[in-house]
Amino acid sequence: MEELCWINASVTRLADATVSVDDRGYVFADGVYEVFRVYAGKTFAVEAHLRRLARSCEGIELSLQYSLEEIDKAVHDLVRQSELESGIVYLQATRGVAPRGHAFPLNTPATLMIYTRSMSFTHCARQRVISVPDERWKRCWIKAIALLPNVLAKNLAVKANADEAILVDDGLVQEGSTSNVFIVERDTLITPPIGPKVLPGVTRELLLPLAQSIGMKVEERPIPIAEALAADEAFLTSTTREVAWIGQWDTRTFGEACGEWTRRLSDAFRPTPG
Ligand code: PDD
Repeated sequence: MEELCWINASVTRLADATVSVDDRGYVFADGVYEVFRVYAGKTFAVEAHLRRLARSCEGIELSLQYSLEEIDKAVHDLVRQSELESGIVYLQATRGVAPRGHAFPLNTPATLMIYTRSMSFTHCARQRVISVPDERWKRCWIKAIALLPNVLAKNLAVKANADEAILVDDGLVQEGSTSNVFIVERDTLITPPIGPKVLPGVTRELLLPLAQSIGMKVEERPIPIAEALAADEAFLTSTTREVAWIGQWDTRTFGEACGEWTRRLSDAFRPTPG
């Protein structure tokens, strides 16, 4: 297996890949990204990720010089060439290379970068989470590479010996710094609606119909933090975590084992066993 990097159609070893210091991703965080999961050599949920990429690009008025079909092919070819079995594909699109200036540069092609990275993952991991104030902008539905508030929130969690920071805005649970949040009350799955402070997670999108198929009711509505802390079960979703159960949230302990509904959802989600 070799980790590879594709930048505007030229492929190198990931360790040798470079972009200009004038790239607007580097200077302004002027770009968007996707993280795909690779299971047994196959890239998962490519169409859903590419749909979200297109929406994110629209959200920042970024035109890509490759069609979604061409990007799909580039991702597949790179995974095959890398001989990647388990890991991620990271894709980042920025507004290209131009002398520093806030206005969008004219006639500058976007930089599209895609790399493969080998990784192993924990299935249905226990998470300790803390609530932190949500200090992000109001377009969190865009998967923007400008993640400083998320980085700072996550590091508050790390300092508190926790795995994830849950962003709370005006008393309402929004999402984790790198994940979507769900709670379970009896047989009902509840998650905040997509919006200014909630990313349309691909794992979230795939999980909601699965929940209905195993007999759960599903509600997408705002969740007051007090309600979340009193829930029967709570869990996070993301491409790298899949479904990860919350064992401790601030001072609330949810028990020593993954809840029954969370376990069933996690099993229903698993694209490949083992
Ligand atoms: N993060 N919300 C935020 C803020 C995220 O950063 C992520 C994922 C999610 C879950 O989205 P998805 O199910 O599509 O992975 C929700 C990725 C994995 C990351 O930044 O590494």
